[in-house]
Amino acid sequence: MNPTASLDNTSLARVIAVTSGKGGVGKSNVAANLAIALAQRGRRVILWDLDFGLANIDTLLNLDVKGNFGDVLRGEKHIDEVTVVGPAKIHVVPGASGDEDLANLGDKERGQLLKAIEYMAHHADYIILDTGAGIAANTIRFTAAADDILIITTPEPTAMLDAYATMKVIYSNSPNSRLHLIMNMARDRREARQALARMATIAQHFLSGHLLEEGYLLHDPAVGDAVRRRKPFILSAADCQPARALHVIAHAIDRMQIVHKVRLAENKGFLARLAEHFG
Ligand SMILES: Nc1ncnc2c1ncn2[C@@H]1O[C@H](COP(=O)(O)OP(=O)(O)OP(=O)(O)O)[C@@H](O)[C@H]1O
Ligand SMILES: [Mg+2]
Repeated sequence: MNPTASLDNTSLARVIAVTSGKGGVGKSNVAANLAIALAQRGRRVILWDLDFGLANIDTLLNLDVKGNFGDVLRGEKHIDEVTVVGPAKIHVVPGASGDEDLANLGDKERGQLLKAIEYMAHHADYIILDTGAGIAANTIRFTAAADDILIITTPEPTAMLDAYATMKVIYSNSPNSRLHLIMNMARDRREARQALARMATIAQHFLSGHLLEEGYLLHDPAVGDAVRRRKPFILSAADCQPARALHVIAHAIDRMQIVHKVRLAENKGFLARLAEHFG
């Protein structure tokens, strides 16, 4: 991480949570490959594995970890010591193992948590959170506090219903969150657009006009191949539709940066909101 980064609060990282209702819909793949797409645009990106059940970003990206966030919470390591540099120079923070309960932190751990987040927020343009599925108490506060929330779903009715329920919980926790929907694993463009339109109709209230244009990734065998070879598809299969779609999404996210600056100036950033919850 760049130690010379400004400590001016209006340059704090924008935090993007990647979450879903149903599990296995592609959160980790979207989070990791989106992080790389943003890094390729010249941004400093931290990818933070917040899936406490089954942390697996390091496996997905074939990284050797030197510790995890649990060591930071216990005060045994500085956040910089557990961060590993991944593809396109993204900085990956490996998740704490399952027994680490962020919902019930003691005073000391809470202090370590806020200190680590503050450090990260001052050393990146984006912090991408790869969360677990559903709304567990562990991650709800992080997800709801994020500047932007990407809800990943597939066109399956069960996944869409769970996505809807998740959006509702996030909305009730944080009505000002910017929620975006990403339809993953659709069979073709027609199915993707139909499913997005259906979600937009039933969840209009939560999405409040913030649907990302072309916010869908088709089902593509290149994704599964990349997972098996432990290489991000945005690098190993740069021409596949999911890779191109994520570049479009990264561009759209970058374009909204001005809104982020305004919010920071009003002290409504992630750090301020989390400090409210954990402080
Ligand atoms: N667009 C896609 N095309 C083909 N396969 C995909 C696509 N997106 C995801 N997959 C497959 O789905 C699997 C699950 O993806 P991923 O691990 O990213 O989901 P997840 O939501 O993070 O799961 P979990 O809830 O367990 O954390 C991957 O192993 C991958 O093979
Ligand atoms: Mg995952």
